[in-house]
Amino acid sequence: MDIDTPRADESASLTIVPTGRALGAEVRNIDLKRLDDRTFAAFLHAFHAHSVLLVRGQTLSDQDLIAFSRRFGELDWAPVQENGRRFVEGLPEIYIVSNVKQNGEAIGSLGSGEAVWHTDMSYLDMPPIASALYALEIPPVGGNTSFCSMYAIYDALPDELKRRIADLKIKHDGTYNSGGFVRQGVTPTDDPRTSPGAVHPLVCIHPDTGRRMLYLGRRRNAYLVGLELSQSEALLDELWTYAARPDFSWEHVWQVGDLVIWDNRCTMHRRDPFDDNSRRTMHRTQIKGTARPA
Ligand code: OGA
Ligand code: MN
Repeated sequence: MDIDTPRADESASLTIVPTGRALGAEVRNIDLKRLDDRTFAAFLHAFHAHSVLLVRGQTLSDQDLIAFSRRFGELDWAPVQENGRRFVEGLPEIYIVSNVKQNGEAIGSLGSGEAVWHTDMSYLDMPPIASALYALEIPPVGGNTSFCSMYAIYDALPDELKRRIADLKIKHDGTYNSGGFVRQGVTPTDDPRTSPGAVHPLVCIHPDTGRRMLYLGRRRNAYLVGLELSQSEALLDELWTYAARPDFSWEHVWQVGDLVIWDNRCTMHRRDPFDDNSRRTMHRTQIKGTARPA
């Protein structure tokens, strides 16, 4: 497929406009509230080709967001909020990312600080397939979200490094969320060898695209199983110098009404901090994982 020029899909009316970066495309001429099977098939095809899709100008209720997300599979219940509560009464699928406070209590997670590079809930044996994030309130500056391609990062590794990591397994930490907050019910520890988490292959094959990718999850408390801690730290640091390179990422500047859905298996994301006096509110769903990374 030619990914450099906007392409009108022949069978459906939507238009796919690639970002021109290592991943990501905008889908135009689509209303996520009215997706027939043919349009959804074209959308899913683009999702596999570009890993992250942006759709602008949507007006979605929580029920609409849930109905759209269900086209991809069964949904997860949202993780419990940092204060131990769930978010939306009666809609356990909706996770709120927000710095807004009501009666002194946060209505969502992650505050206004930086969220460091991560993929969602890779500390589970079966991490979610995808996450969909819908923008309701956006600050005038800051709070941009970047995505990086774990295919492109793997491809860029020198052959010698690819050989060294081919059979390694990595523990994805379950202690901290990407805002640095300790997860509910977890006793904090900074020893990656003993912290809770899930062990996955460091190099995985994407079950839908068949492409090979690096599976890092997040840096804090990560551990390459079986290595001396110092060796594990050094090798992880080396791999992360590739992950942090801007040529493998795309940065999204949000508008109200944007929906972004990312493939959680082959991408990571991070968020810039923003002024806590402005408001930023996003509603998120997660599509449940159906297989262990392999
Ligand atoms: C998330 C997340 C970043 C953002 O919802 O999983 O990391 O931009 N959000 O709010
Ligand atoms: Mn996230």
